[in-house]
Amino acid sequence: MVLVLFGASGHVGRALTELLSDRYEVVGVSRAEYGDWTAEPGPLLDALAGREVHGAVAALGGWFVGAPLLDAGPRSLDHEYGSHLASHAAACWVSRELARRQDRGTPLVHIALGGIAGIEPCVGSGAISVFGAAQEMLIRVTEAEARAAGEPVAFRELKILAPVRGDERNDVAAGQRVVEPEEIAGRVRALLQEPGGDWSSVLE
Ligand SMILES: NC(=O)c1ccc[n+]([C@@H]2O[C@H](COP(=O)([O-])OP(=O)(O)OC[C@H]3O[C@@H](n4cnc5c(N)ncnc54)[C@H](OP(=O)(O)O)[C@@H]3O)[C@@H](O)[C@H]2O)c1
Repeated sequence: MVLVLFGASGHVGRALTELLSDRYEVVGVSRAEYGDWTAEPGPLLDALAGREVHGAVAALGGWFVGAPLLDAGPRSLDHEYGSHLASHAAACWVSRELARRQDRGTPLVHIALGGIAGIEPCVGSGAISVFGAAQEMLIRVTEAEARAAGEPVAFRELKILAPVRGDERNDVAAGQRVVEPEEIAGRVRALLQEPGGDWSSVLE
């Protein structure tokens, strides 16, 4: 069973690639491997031609703490649009395309990972908050559209509300909850088995 992992070169993507490889043949997607697949998805689709794809995980975007949004100039959102929203939209498109090209009988489940910034306004990570909130609506819209059109794909979001173990970009306070990569892998496994479930899932 093939699982496509968008963002396989990132912190969460690397961990999930290793953990999910017990059950899935994980095809890791990064720009180093496939070029800018968000603009030119052809090479990625060619590499997956004829493969039966069970699901996809989008671990895209990343984290930083920097200047407040209002201090970043009048076009403060431009830089993160590509990494934090357009990449997710492209991943949804690729998953829908892969689902259309196969005849599995059950929908391909696409899971977009998100974080706390999409719920709470994070000072210094404002663009990530803005696009995190927009990502939720992207998944809701794509899921509603897919259902309405009877597409063989289901779109899900899994929000991870605490720092993930081992990511040194996080400033983790003593005693603060840290999510283990194994917990994320467990949720992903469960979501992949439930194509009829709810669009939203949270790991607190
Ligand atoms: N790390 C945490 O502690 C944590 C906590 C909670 C939630 N999360 C969630 O987990 C997800 C992944 O986070 P992460 O920490 O693993 O991120 P990360 O380590 O920064 O990796 C980001 C990934 O996104 C890809 N990417 C960046 N810009 C791109 C673009 N313009 N086009 C295509 N791909 C692009 C990168 O791939 P390339 O190799 O192609 O650059 C990279 O693999 C996010 O949704 C985040 O909210 C993470």
